[in-house]
Amino acid sequence: MKRNAEFEFSAGLRWTHWLRAIAIAVLTVTGFYLTYVFIVPEASDEPILFLNAKFRMWHEIAGFLLIAVTLFKLYLFLIDKVSMKERIAFLDFISPKVWIQQIKYYLFMGEHPHLKGVYNPLQFIAYVGLYAMVFVISLTGLILYVHMYQGGGIGLFLYDFMRPIEAMMGGLAMVREIHHIVMWGILIFLPIHIYMAIFNSIMGKEGSMDAIISGYKFTKHDSKH
Ligand code: HEM
Repeated sequence: MKRNAEFEFSAGLRWTHWLRAIAIAVLTVTGFYLTYVFIVPEASDEPILFLNAKFRMWHEIAGFLLIAVTLFKLYLFLIDKVSMKERIAFLDFISPKVWIQQIKYYLFMGEHPHLKGVYNPLQFIAYVGLYAMVFVISLTGLILYVHMYQGGGIGLFLYDFMRPIEAMMGGLAMVREIHHIVMWGILIFLPIHIYMAIFNSIMGKEGSMDAIISGYKFTKHDSKH
């Protein structure tokens, strides 16, 4: 069957996708360390090891990377011309017909619906959920951060904004708890996301995994989705 190469994801969107994947991987490993110190350096009489501080430093670097990438992705979603296909997916999201067809497809009971945008309704709602989780984990992360760097820079700038939010959340210990629980939300999202991406790539036979690397997928000649 003849196939058309169709440009789906812009370079900005693909770069931010993989940078975010790296940031989340670093944040998860370093975050688990901050929860439970699973490596202890060889004992030394000199105060030179600072392993905890180093883990925290990499955690915060990856944290600010995640925040920057998410803000840029949000900007692309709302403003960028190529991302119009992402925005149009909202129309599929509010269509009950597409919802039913999509669920039937995943249960091997019907054909894939013809979509207007690049995301099906289940994908769309999953990504909205992911953004909500990234928002909460970033906010709680910043609250934890301002307690470490109040001397200047972003820490000092954000300090007065973060303290009332911290109080609303029930105090610093609670903020840390929420930060930790949301991590598990993201860790549950990830395998489902990867399973769905592989499922769609294999079942749809359109190289949909290629699109997040090269930007192109390969649509069937006679199909619109
Ligand atoms: C996917 C994103 C993230 C994950 C999975 C994650 C995970 C974690 C975990 C598990 C902890 C330990 C909490 C505990 O159990 O006590 C932690 C602490 C912390 N996180 Fe995150 N985090 C993320 C994003 C962020 C962001 C965006 C920031 C903002 C800069 C941030 C800043 C911090 C800080 C400052 C701490 C406290 C470190 C300490 O007490 O020594 N995190 N994070």
